[in-house]
Amino acid sequence: MGSQAAKLPPHVLIFPLPIQGHVNSMLRLAELLCLAELHVTFIVSEFCYNRLLKHTNVESRFACYPGFSFQTISDGLPEDHPRSGERFVDIMPALRRVTAPLFKQMMIEKKWFASSTQRAITCIIADGVLSFAADFVQENRIPLVYFRTASAIYFWASFRMPALIEAGEIPFKGNDMDLMVKSVPGMEDVIRRRDLPSFCRVDDLNETTFQFIKNETQQSPRAQAFILNTFEDLEGPVLSHIRKHLPRLYTIGPNHFHLTSRLAAATKTENSISSGSLWEEDRSCLAWLDSQPTRSVIYASFGSITVVTREQLLEFWYGLVNSGQRFLWVIRPNSIIGADNASRPIPNELEEGTKERGYMVDWAPQQEVLNHPSIGGFLTHSGWNSTLESMVAGVPMICWPYFGDQTINSRYVSEVWKIGLDMKDTCDRVIIEKMVRDLMDERKDEFLRRADEMAKLARKAVDEGGSSYTNLDSLVDCIKSMVI
Ligand code: UDX
Repeated sequence: MGSQAAKLPPHVLIFPLPIQGHVNSMLRLAELLCLAELHVTFIVSEFCYNRLLKHTNVESRFACYPGFSFQTISDGLPEDHPRSGERFVDIMPALRRVTAPLFKQMMIEKKWFASSTQRAITCIIADGVLSFAADFVQENRIPLVYFRTASAIYFWASFRMPALIEAGEIPFKGNDMDLMVKSVPGMEDVIRRRDLPSFCRVDDLNETTFQFIKNETQQSPRAQAFILNTFEDLEGPVLSHIRKHLPRLYTIGPNHFHLTSRLAAATKTENSISSGSLWEEDRSCLAWLDSQPTRSVIYASFGSITVVTREQLLEFWYGLVNSGQRFLWVIRPNSIIGADNASRPIPNELEEGTKERGYMVDWAPQQEVLNHPSIGGFLTHSGWNSTLESMVAGVPMICWPYFGDQTINSRYVSEVWKIGLDMKDTCDRVIIEKMVRDLMDERKDEFLRRADEMAKLARKAVDEGGSSYTNLDSLVDCIKSMVI
C-alpha cells in the first residue's frame, strides 16, 4: 500500500438482515461510524433500498459523509412477497440460497470496494444472524464483528438453547407454559417457559426458525467482536454472563438516541432523528397530538412484521374505545389477515368512539410520536427498537408480544424493569380495557415515575463518559486496530 493509501481510514462493510427493525438499527450504527470518520459501505436488499429512497431522506442524510455508500443486493424473495406474519421466515433460507453467493460474487467483482479514495474493506460488521458472512471472512481472512439488533436477554436465552434442549425445557407444550425456566443462568427467578423466544413452543413450533436461531446464535463466538444495542444499566447482569463467552462485547445503545446525541455534539442537529422507515410516515398525527392534553394519549403500534386477525383487531378496538382514553393507532397496510376483511363493516360504536377520541394512521413517525408530550402510554408488540424508543421517551408500555424476542422483552418490561404490563398470550377486550385504564389512569403516576427513571439511565449511558459512549469509542479503536 502506498503512503497516501496508508492514511485512509478503515473501511467497514455493514450487512443487516434486510427487514425494518434490523435495517434502521444498523443504519444508525453506520452513521455513528461515519461520525467517527470511518468509511462505510452498507449492503441492503433492493426491496429495502427502494423503500428507503421513497420514504426517507437517507440519500441527503448520508450525502455529508463522503466515505459512505449503499450497495444493493437481492434478498432472494419475489417483489410481491409480504415479508411479514408467518411468511416472514421465508427470508432466512432465501438469503442463504440466493444472497450469500451473490455477496461473494459482488465482493470479487467490486474488488472489495477498493478505490483511489477508499481502502478495500478492512472489516465486516454483519447482522448476528447472517453466519454466511462468517464463512466468507474465514475463507478470506478478514475480521468480522457481529451486531445483534435484539436485546441481550433474548440473545442469552437463544445462546442457551442447547442447554435448554438437553434439560428437556424446550420445546414445551401449552400445559408447561408457567413452569419457571432453570437452564438460563441469571434468569432463574424471572422467566417462565412462556417468556422464552416464541419459536420454543411446540404449538407454534416453526422448525426452520428454531434451528435457524439456535445455529446462528451458536456461531457468535466466530466473530472477533460483538455489538449489542443495549446499555449496561439496563441489562448488566445478563451481559456479564454473555461476556464469559464473548469477551469483546460492546454495548452502544440505545443507538437511536446515541446517534441523536452525537449529532448534537457535532452540531448536525437538523438531522437528529433517523427513522429509516420502509413505509411513508403520516405526519398528520403530530398535529392531532398537538391538540390533545398532556400525557392523555395511548399510542398503539405493532411494528413492521406483526399481523392480526379481524377478531384480534376488534378486541383491541373495543378495548381501546371502552377504556375511555384517547388513542393513536398505527394499522399498517395489509396487516389484517383473513379473507374479505376490508369489505366487512366495522361496528358503529367503534366508528363513533374513534371519531370522538381516536386517530389512525398507516405508519407514524414513531420516535417523534413517543416524544410528544401528549403521549402517556404505548401499546406495543415489544420489538426491541420500539422498547428502547419508549424507554428513552419515558413512556410506560402495555406489551402484546407477537413472536421471537418479543416474548422475553415483555416479561422484563413488566417484571424486572417495572415500566409496564405484559398482556402476553391473551387478546381480550376486557383485559385490554383494564390494562389501558391501569396504565393511563389508576397507576399512571407510578408507571410514569419508573419510566422517567429508566429514561434518565438510558440518556446517561450515551452522554459523554457514559457506558455506551465509552464503548462506542472503544469499538472504533477496535475497528482501527483491525487494519493490517
Ligand atoms: C423486528 C422484530 O420483530 C423485533 O422484535 C426485533 O427486535 C427487531 O426486528 P419490528 O417487529 O419491526 O422488528 O419491531 P421493532 O424492533 O420495534 O422495530 C420497528 C421500527 O419501526 C421502530 O424503530 C419504530 O420506530 C419503527 N416504526 C414502527 C415507525 O417508524 N413507525 C410506525 O408506525 C411503526
